[in-house]
Amino acid sequence: MSVTTALILAAGKGTRMKSGLVKVLHELAGKPMLGWSLAAAREAGAARIVIVAGHQADQVQEQFKHDGDISIVLQEQQLGTGHAVSCAMEQLEELSGAILILCGDTPLLTGATLQRLADEHNRTAAAVTVLTARMDKPFGYGRIVRDADGRVRRIVEQKDASQDEQAIDEVNSGIYCMDLAFLKAHIGRLGSENAQNEYYLTDLVGIAVAEHAGCAAVLADNPDEILGVNDRLQLALATKVLRQRINQRLMLSGVTLIDPEQCYIDATVQVGCDTVIWPGCTLRGQTVIGCNCLLENNVRITDCTLADRVQIKAGSVLAESEVGAEVSIGPMAHLRPGTVLHPQVKIGNFVETKKIVMGEGSKASHLTYLGDATIGKQVNIGCGTITCNYDGTRKHTTNIGDNVFIGSDVQLVAPVTVGSGSLIAAGTTVVRDVPPDTLTLARTPQVNKEGWCLKKRN
Ligand code: UD1
Ligand code: CA
Repeated sequence: MSVTTALILAAGKGTRMKSGLVKVLHELAGKPMLGWSLAAAREAGAARIVIVAGHQADQVQEQFKHDGDISIVLQEQQLGTGHAVSCAMEQLEELSGAILILCGDTPLLTGATLQRLADEHNRTAAAVTVLTARMDKPFGYGRIVRDADGRVRRIVEQKDASQDEQAIDEVNSGIYCMDLAFLKAHIGRLGSENAQNEYYLTDLVGIAVAEHAGCAAVLADNPDEILGVNDRLQLALATKVLRQRINQRLMLSGVTLIDPEQCYIDATVQVGCDTVIWPGCTLRGQTVIGCNCLLENNVRITDCTLADRVQIKAGSVLAESEVGAEVSIGPMAHLRPGTVLHPQVKIGNFVETKKIVMGEGSKASHLTYLGDATIGKQVNIGCGTITCNYDGTRKHTTNIGDNVFIGSDVQLVAPVTVGSGSLIAAGTTVVRDVPPDTLTLARTPQVNKEGWCLKKRN
């Protein structure tokens, strides 16, 4: 039986982050820290999630406003984890059964572990079940104090622990499954007589033992999972582990990562099989990449869709663009938002595009800027071509028909239309519309003064 309600504590500022942004909104591999706890809770079966927010609660609210399964309660003053839970009690009034309690700063926790915690809680019918881990360096965490028979007696915080207790290597993850009736009956009994003058949620363990209500513990298989992120070192550590997990999933699904240590792929990104990704690539946001694609070194892609057999050569940057099958891009190309490339388009080195549609088989192979343009099929855009789309105040569009050949170093002064089948000679500045099947040529006539240089040298 899964536990369908979860409570996530996320009101703290995260002082040790030394940041203007509240800790739980710092990003790891494409998701805010709190988003990872949410994902784990959902994976374990939670359908109703209450978040306790405090610092920058409005920003937390804003970030998750589209998630229908979440409600947010405010803890105005951060008086401790026990106090945070008490702030949410009103929201939980109608509910019974068990509840998962998580922290917003343990992004490595998996749904599977949370599920195991819930299963053990149901099996033992304890009032409180706590997730624990053994750590080589337990400093900073609450310690699990057990009796001679190995039964959990209480949790002692680092700052309250005796020398002997500090030697305990089993730590509290800050993640629990609790019986709601027990929680409602005893949350009001917590005191704050401790080193931090805080209301500790951890004291409920001692209370459960004293009341003979039952307390169980589940040891996490991997202590990594309960890593609490408190500073930027731990943020980097956790990000690395999340990235490894994402990369492993992709590799096992048929993606080749030449050096997985150097591929930076967000959790939200999808990649098709037989795609090969070289080191230094960063894939962000809602990016979807097809099968049999090649991403050479140092390619950065944000919120793009790539069809199958696309090749992106080294050093290219793509954002909010759609790329059709068998397109070739780069090296050093820049696709800016609103670029739509139909199949077999070629965008070569040092080409920049913005808000354009380019038809099947068209090419811009070198050193070109294409902005606010519609380009037909089988068009050749010569080296150095520029769509002059901006008059200093407004943007204007360029329309180029099918089968147009644009020579090198052409300026298209928008708004302007080039009819299909036309040829624009190299060096032309196009300022008027060009009808279909037309040769357009605008150059100052060439003058050759033979022998002139010879004379100058003598
Ligand atoms: C807590 C546990 C500790 C455990 C550790 C695991 C207590 C007393 N201690 O300590 O046993 O080993 O987590 O990481 O529970 N929060 C609020 N409101 C508050 C205080 C905290 O919402 O008033 C939230 C924080 O935003 C954070 C979480 O609760 O997400 C944990 O708080 P934190 O201050 O980091 O607790 P620790 O000292 O790490
Ligand atoms: Ca913490």
